[in-house]
Amino acid sequence: MTADDLDAVAAVERASYTSGWPATAFAHEIEHNRLARYAVLEADGAIVGFAGAWLMVDEAHVVTIAVRPDLRRAGYGRLLLHALILMARAEGMEAATLEVRVSNDAARALYRRYGFHEVGERKKYYQDNGEDAVIMTTEEFASAAYERRLEGLAADLEARWPGVMEATAAALNARATRASG
Ligand SMILES: CC(C)(COP(=O)(O)OP(=O)(O)OC[C@H]1O[C@@H](n2cnc3c(N)ncnc32)[C@H](O)[C@@H]1OP(=O)(O)O)[C@@H](O)C(=O)NCCC(=O)NCCS
Repeated sequence: MTADDLDAVAAVERASYTSGWPATAFAHEIEHNRLARYAVLEADGAIVGFAGAWLMVDEAHVVTIAVRPDLRRAGYGRLLLHALILMARAEGMEAATLEVRVSNDAARALYRRYGFHEVGERKKYYQDNGEDAVIMTTEEFASAAYERRLEGLAADLEARWPGVMEATAAALNARATRASG
């Protein structure tokens, strides 16, 4: 995600969350938060979704993920989460964790596919409606079981979009090169 993406990101955010972040919050994240990593997904030249995480010592905390409402259930959420996990793993994170609204069946199902399981809850976590959050965590990225899971999920994405994993790896490498230069 770069400053040029922020208007499109904010539009997806507004369409996805009732009390979402303004573009300035994303700007702060990408410019000033050294722990933050955000990715956008482009299809046919337009931003269709984004995802972000904070790298907290050895654990990636998934902060957000959203896909344009008219383009959901097409696999974009999976692709974004996949890229985020590859990015976190490449930066030395050992596992990922997140909070999600109890009522958010779509997100919880997506996270379960990526090996997140429920480890607890935070009562009345969301200020807008007092809803509880479920805390979900993956197993260790380095475990054989998680490796197998990611390989299977990558194969699903490849079957849908041939070449997508290579393109994702290239995008992550380009980002890593920019960050180190
Ligand atoms: C969560 C979200 C990002 C998923 O994006 P998406 O592009 O629709 O996800 P995908 O098409 O990759 O779906 C992946 C899997 O998630 C699950 N899933 C996604 N939407 C679902 C729904 N409405 N109901 C049940 N399962 C769902 C399914 O297991 C799906 O796999 P399948 O299509 O093979 O069955 C999207 O619903 C969204 O932007 N929601 C609003 C923002 C939000 O709540 N983010 C999470 C905050 S914690």
